[in-house]
Amino acid sequence: SRLWLIVPAAGQGNRMQADRPKQYLELEGRPVLAHTLARLYQAFPESCLCLCLTEGDPWFDPVWVPFTQWRRVTGGLERVDSVRNALQSIAGEADEDDWVLVHDVARPCVTREDLLALQAALEDEPVGALLAVPAADTMKRASDTGRIRHTESRERLWHALTPQGFRYGLLKKALGHASSSDNVTDEASAVEALGLSPRLVTGRRDNLKITRPEDLPLARHILAAQRE
Ligand code: C5P
Repeated sequence: SRLWLIVPAAGQGNRMQADRPKQYLELEGRPVLAHTLARLYQAFPESCLCLCLTEGDPWFDPVWVPFTQWRRVTGGLERVDSVRNALQSIAGEADEDDWVLVHDVARPCVTREDLLALQAALEDEPVGALLAVPAADTMKRASDTGRIRHTESRERLWHALTPQGFRYGLLKKALGHASSSDNVTDEASAVEALGLSPRLVTGRRDNLKITRPEDLPLARHILAAQRE
């Protein structure tokens, strides 16, 4: 079966408070997007990439795409809509049991080892899997006035990272059922809503999602440290 990669990159990244979407901010002389695609390519050079971009994206340059098989897909209103559009673009080409890995463009520090570990975990996996890390901090549930309501048990609490991998047929079904009000912020939650339990694959904590201004220098340090 084939491997498809979906990279949603149609977000505005408003929390970065930058002059451009965060996937185009510079990291070591290249935009975040170019790093992310290069990392994916190192692990999966034969796969086919669907890159979700906003319509008429003025920042995008195809020289940053190392894949020979790739396509550009118009993103949607929410992340889940962008991924849905990508799935639609491969309908008719993808087999029901092809694997689809979805990876946030804002995670340029994902390592080849983690990507290959995820792929290995998907072999003989009936539901699907995602990279994740166990929570290290004590977790608090807040009231809407910013006070603690209670402390969540940290035991068995994980941070969901990406990539997240599911069979094409299952992912299409899960996202087809998900409605905008469901708060589907990742693929796994849509699959969970079908009553299924995706597998957690322990990944690296430094697979951070660039979200806020202080994350960009962090990502620079991580990339430098990973080369040592
Ligand atoms: O904003 P957040 O970091 O949660 O976005 C996660 C990913 O989804 C990013 O890679 C972003 O570019 C993408 N996205 C998208 N289409 C949207 C919103 C977000 O492709 N409408």
